Amino acid sequence: MSWYTFVVQDGFGRNIDYLRVSVTDKCNLRCVYCMPPDGVKQVRHSDMLRFEEVLRVCSAAARLGVCGVKVTGGEPLVRRGLTGFIRALKQSACLKNVTLTTNGLLLSGFLDELLEAGIDAVNVSLDTLNKDVFRAITRSDGFEQVLYSIHAAQEASISLKINAVPMRGVNEADIVPLAELARQKNVHVRFIELMPLGLGARILPIPQAEVKAALTQAFGTLEKFEGRLGNGPASYYSAAGFAGKIGFISALSHSFCGSCNRLRLTGTGLLKTCLSSDIGVDLKAVIRSGGSDAAIDAAFRSAVMLKPAGHDFHTNQHVKKNMYSIGG
Ligand code: 5AD
Ligand code: SF4
Repeated sequence: MSWYTFVVQDGFGRNIDYLRVSVTDKCNLRCVYCMPPDGVKQVRHSDMLRFEEVLRVCSAAARLGVCGVKVTGGEPLVRRGLTGFIRALKQSACLKNVTLTTNGLLLSGFLDELLEAGIDAVNVSLDTLNKDVFRAITRSDGFEQVLYSIHAAQEASISLKINAVPMRGVNEADIVPLAELARQKNVHVRFIELMPLGLGARILPIPQAEVKAALTQAFGTLEKFEGRLGNGPASYYSAAGFAGKIGFISALSHSFCGSCNRLRLTGTGLLKTCLSSDIGVDLKAVIRSGGSDAAIDAAFRSAVMLKPAGHDFHTNQHVKKNMYSIGG
């Protein structure tokens, strides 16, 4: 196995070394900020990239210097063959770091396969520790299954992060209990500022400063952690007596666009340049017109060069976009 040492830079001098890959729009939950209650229109199977095609894109990315791939959805574990795909990402696409974002419902049943496939870390999305609030946010049951998956992942010593989206009037009371999870166990709990994207635009976010103030009041001073954890834009803090870290991902109040390192591949093969932008390159068209590996590399590079300097969430609400197609 060899990892590539090439680096690809965008027009603003940012190194692009991370790719988020959405493998399905489908999900077994219906989170209020993401999916309508009745689910979403099914994308035709033939319009979705097959895993072999996604693998070609990821191999191109690896050749150009991408070393980390995050597999996302919808809910990635609802797509059949996912663990085989993850194994192929590690083995044939030569990716150093392959991680998964999941809502946790099906995670416990896949842990052994994921570990065997070589998964490097898992993020579980969990916005509350209250069963009724879980049902209100996800419009679904399954809270215990998610908790069980988190427990099982910890037992299996998988590197684990929990992602929570604080929302005004919905889960304020969960901020401290969720952070508490990082006290006992080496799990990092990250608070993601809700972005005005898709159905999320209808809900009020709670800014990082307010979440941090609540945590400081509960746990004492949060010390900035200067080390690196993962590939992402989170800033991390340590609290006295905590085994794990507290993280913040705050696109609105603490924009991280200046150090953005990523592109996003949708399930239908659009290589997107930014969460807030539809600008991208249609890789499905390149692949299905018989494009060579060199053609995919060239298309990937052109997407990198199209990356905007930053998001426009302050001036624009992106109500027509769907997080379930972009994968966060
Ligand atoms: N703003 C911020 N985070 C969001 N997520 C989904 N929609 C939004 C939004 N509008 C989160 C999910 C999950 C991750 C993949 O993205 O909660 O943790
Ligand atoms: Fe599913 Fe994630 Fe969207 Fe919730 S946020 S409905 S878990 S894709």
